[in-house]
Amino acid sequence: MDKKKILKEIEKLREEINYHNYRYYILDSPVISDTEYDRLFKRLLELEEKFPFSLTPDSPTQRIGAKPLEEFKTAAHTIPMLSLNNANKTDEAREFDERVKRFLETDKDIEYVAEPKMDGLAIELIYANGIFTAGSTRGDGYTGEDVTLNLRTIKSIPLRLIPPAPSRLEVRGEVFIPIKSFERLNREREDKGEPPFANPRNAAAGSLRQLDSRITAARPLDIYCYGVGVIEGAKFKTHWDILHALKGWGLKVNPLIKICKGIEEVIQYHEDMEKRRDELPYELDGVVVKVNSLTLQDSLGILTRSPRWAAAYKFKARQETTQVKDIIVGVGRTGALTPVAILSPVEVGGVTVERATLHNQDEVDRKDVRIGDWVVVQRAGDVIPEVVMVIKDKRSGKERPFKLPDRCPLCGAAVVKEGAIHRCTGGLSCPAQLKEGIRHFASKRAMNIEGFGDRHIEQFVEKGVIKDIADLYSIKKEYIIELERWADKSAENFLNQIEKSKNTTLPRLIYALGIRQVGEHISKVLSENFNSLDELMEASYDRLMEIHEIGPETAESIVTFFKEGHNREVIEKLKKAGVKTEGQGARACPELVSGGKPAPASSKQGGQENQKFKDKQFVLTGTLSEFNREQAKELIENLGGRVASAVSKKTDYVIAGAEPGSKYDKAKELGVKILNEEEFKDLISRK
Ligand code: IVH
Repeated sequence: MDKKKILKEIEKLREEINYHNYRYYILDSPVISDTEYDRLFKRLLELEEKFPFSLTPDSPTQRIGAKPLEEFKTAAHTIPMLSLNNANKTDEAREFDERVKRFLETDKDIEYVAEPKMDGLAIELIYANGIFTAGSTRGDGYTGEDVTLNLRTIKSIPLRLIPPAPSRLEVRGEVFIPIKSFERLNREREDKGEPPFANPRNAAAGSLRQLDSRITAARPLDIYCYGVGVIEGAKFKTHWDILHALKGWGLKVNPLIKICKGIEEVIQYHEDMEKRRDELPYELDGVVVKVNSLTLQDSLGILTRSPRWAAAYKFKARQETTQVKDIIVGVGRTGALTPVAILSPVEVGGVTVERATLHNQDEVDRKDVRIGDWVVVQRAGDVIPEVVMVIKDKRSGKERPFKLPDRCPLCGAAVVKEGAIHRCTGGLSCPAQLKEGIRHFASKRAMNIEGFGDRHIEQFVEKGVIKDIADLYSIKKEYIIELERWADKSAENFLNQIEKSKNTTLPRLIYALGIRQVGEHISKVLSENFNSLDELMEASYDRLMEIHEIGPETAESIVTFFKEGHNREVIEKLKKAGVKTEGQGARACPELVSGGKPAPASSKQGGQENQKFKDKQFVLTGTLSEFNREQAKELIENLGGRVASAVSKKTDYVIAGAEPGSKYDKAKELGVKILNEEEFKDLISRK
């Protein structure tokens, strides 16, 4: 092939790929598919390999990293990279504005540019005639480290600018890691037994300052450009114009930058950004305010190492260090035991934090949090404060490790481990689970006690009228009418409802008990296999496992539930109160027992008519955002489907949430249909 022709094709491919990189990484709006992109890329790689003379450092293929360096060379900045003075409060932002005005001898509003202050590390990129030639860290402001090879691997740094580019451009920006990528990176590090990064800033710095640029290439780094050093071949009047020119040359500039007329608009911008902080995919630690006019910037000049024309107007810090005084155990509505760190009070992001969740025992072990440890605590928006890491250097040796108890601290029932969660099996009598338990017990598809809402449940539990679900059947009218908002008539109606609920069916009663893993469908299956609640209570694990639709987790959960003394007492009380616990009741209400046959389509009660998942087998994997596993299971079972724990040829659908496990791969291998959460929701809501 003729050399000229090859070079032409190579150049065309590079231009095309550069353009698609720009659409994808800068504009976030790709115009071709990944496969198409891969095809172009592969073709370019092939040609470059075959004709090495064609290779240039600005080729899009040159982003994969190169041989490790012995050390970084130093790189001097032509114009020093300054730092910023901080304003931490509104008053300090106003003082900054007053200083600017005083210096400029004006009382007119100053035009500012307000920009998000990224929390990463500052770098400089040098473009000669539009080609990326060198890049360095800020270092001490005068000289930094030459990290050209590493910067080259960041996809959102163009290797060529969009013409017409200036003859020389020194552009400054912040390299950062988006929060999601940071979390993923830390998970991967932990899997490999490597220490996690404390925050996205450290992760960005650690990733960029790698002697082996192939490591940097594998890290999800990104950049926003916010200023310039030397520019030759282009003239500007304002900072805003510079930022727009950078954008035009294909560099990434934060779209949230804004012109503010006067400091009050900057204060408003700061407030807006602080509110939006948790929605943004990257970490911000404040906003930067800059005088827009370059002439005014010149007049203001520099005071030691910071310009007088700019300031960092910081947000409240969200991470602080403090000491763990104790670790206590919280019990949630579903019986989950949560270790909670009791802290020496510390102000985090404007709020005094005295306790922080440690999530579960696995987390305590992973982070190795001990009573007496010094820890970093974090508050992200409305999220409950959490312990990020232990400062192990501060240990004295007197710290005490922590283990969750094997009995519930509230009701004394046995605690079992379900995955990462330790759960109280007290169910019916655990005070923490009481309100939720009653709500479920009384719900339409369970005991169907009408007119008994959350408000009443709160009232009854708080006033101590009900201590377990069986107490519902011994409430006296005189207790009720003493409570607020109850009258003679309403109390009477309520008691009638309670009375009526005694004549229930076995599947409803089993379902009402709120046994974990036992939804409506499994309740029906159980009532088809046992004649009474008593029989079910005595069923062994093996007996339960003989039932077609009962898996090991469900069998285990049923056995544990009925073994718990408190639960047996409550059931005894229910029986004494006259609640029907025999199967005949069930048979009297055919719509709630399938008896192996589908429920009649005309059936009205309990919404059992829709059995569209009948004979369909589902497997769940990963984390769904809108349901927990149990809710998803129940939804499927309510529509007649079954949830299995492993993927096989018999599986009809695998529902894959975030971070699916090996079941996902297995489904792919077997060609089983995989639905994401949206598709799953679609399937449920379709008629
Ligand atoms: S301007 C003279 N703008 O904050 C102007 N800095 O000390 C110097 N930073 O590490 C910087 N976002 O990298 C500027 N929009 C932004 C910024 C920003 C983050 C960092 C900067 C440096 C520190 C300033």
